[in-house]
Amino acid sequence: MTKKILVLAGDGIGPEIVDEAVKVLNVVNDKYNLGLEYTEDTIGGAAIDKYGVPLADSTLATAKESDAVLLGAVGGPKWDTLERSIRPEKGLLKIRSELGLFANLRPAILYPQLANASSLKAEFVAGLDILIVRELTGGIYFGEPRGIRTLENGERQGYNTLPYRESEIERIARVGFEMAQLRNKKLCSVDKANVMESSQLWREIVTNMAKEYPDVELSHMYVDNAAMQLVRLPKQFDVMVTDNMFGDILSDEASMLTGSIGMLPSASLDANGKGMYEPSHGSAPDIAGKNMANPLATILSAAMMLRYTFKHAESANLIEKAVGLTLDKNLRTADIMSMGCDKVSTSEMGNAVVAELKKL
Ligand code: NAI
Ligand code: MG
Repeated sequence: MTKKILVLAGDGIGPEIVDEAVKVLNVVNDKYNLGLEYTEDTIGGAAIDKYGVPLADSTLATAKESDAVLLGAVGGPKWDTLERSIRPEKGLLKIRSELGLFANLRPAILYPQLANASSLKAEFVAGLDILIVRELTGGIYFGEPRGIRTLENGERQGYNTLPYRESEIERIARVGFEMAQLRNKKLCSVDKANVMESSQLWREIVTNMAKEYPDVELSHMYVDNAAMQLVRLPKQFDVMVTDNMFGDILSDEASMLTGSIGMLPSASLDANGKGMYEPSHGSAPDIAGKNMANPLATILSAAMMLRYTFKHAESANLIEKAVGLTLDKNLRTADIMSMGCDKVSTSEMGNAVVAELKKL
């Protein structure tokens, strides 16, 4: 059976890192006869240049027909002066919401080889393996009403709304519990229930759902404390489930514990296993076109695609193992470079992972 992948390289370093992930996917495709088939199109600034909009209707239609999307990154200074509604980032928000990708999985795993690259001392982060489950299509980023209005006294006021329906909370909480069941059976739900009604409902629903998962140890934490605990004792966490904005912030915070944002993959899933896979970082315009970006976040995102959409854990595990073996060889892109290691380019890193993979 063929498996259709839409490849959207996007902007900046997007094309460079996506190329390396496709090289790696090709190796497991051959090895296991997976039947992966690629269609290429684009999104973000590159789509604005090509189609006049950050996400063309035809691209969205192809995405809907595909089983998975592999995405690079969007945005860059060239399009920064455009108004918000037609900026590259709008393409990303649109494809996430149109595909119903409500569950964003962001693992923060510290590879032992990079213990010295973390912003925390090795004793606090050694063995770190956290999964942040972020709600992705609701909450304050999408809530209405929103806008900038002029008050009676002539002063302007910006406002946003943070709505969550019961069904939206239930489906993301379920992902949190299920992920915890597959891991170390600890789930921490992060909210601000002491202040916000949307969080009060969130906490009530998560608490009730815990009865269905007696093997999972549930805890609740306010987001400000969670931000603090993440840098105090990050290994206390296994799975964290939280809303769109809190998850956005906490996952960036967690990323630094792993050494570099260039190491962090992500998966965004719908209710049926369809997904979009992309590195957690942006288009890194400062290093674009220089063949120096770290492709590992994108390669690890491709592994997540195999695991979550194509249910082929074996090939996903193999890619993750090959990444570890590549790091064992002391090969490092500039962002994770340290003393005694060999600095490699984007394509050299991708080729090295391919070489390790072929040996497995
Ligand atoms: P960024 O993640 O692109 O870059 C932040 C810093 O990390 C830069 O110094 C960059 O060189 C470095 N970096 C990022 N990825 C790297 C990699 N793979 N290897 C080595 N170094 C890496 O975030 P920034 O600078 O805030 O945003 C740049 C553009 O990307 C903006 O237009 C922003 O809107 C967009 N963006 C897009 C995202 C997406 O497509 N999902 C997410 C975040 C930002
Ligand atoms: Mg972010």
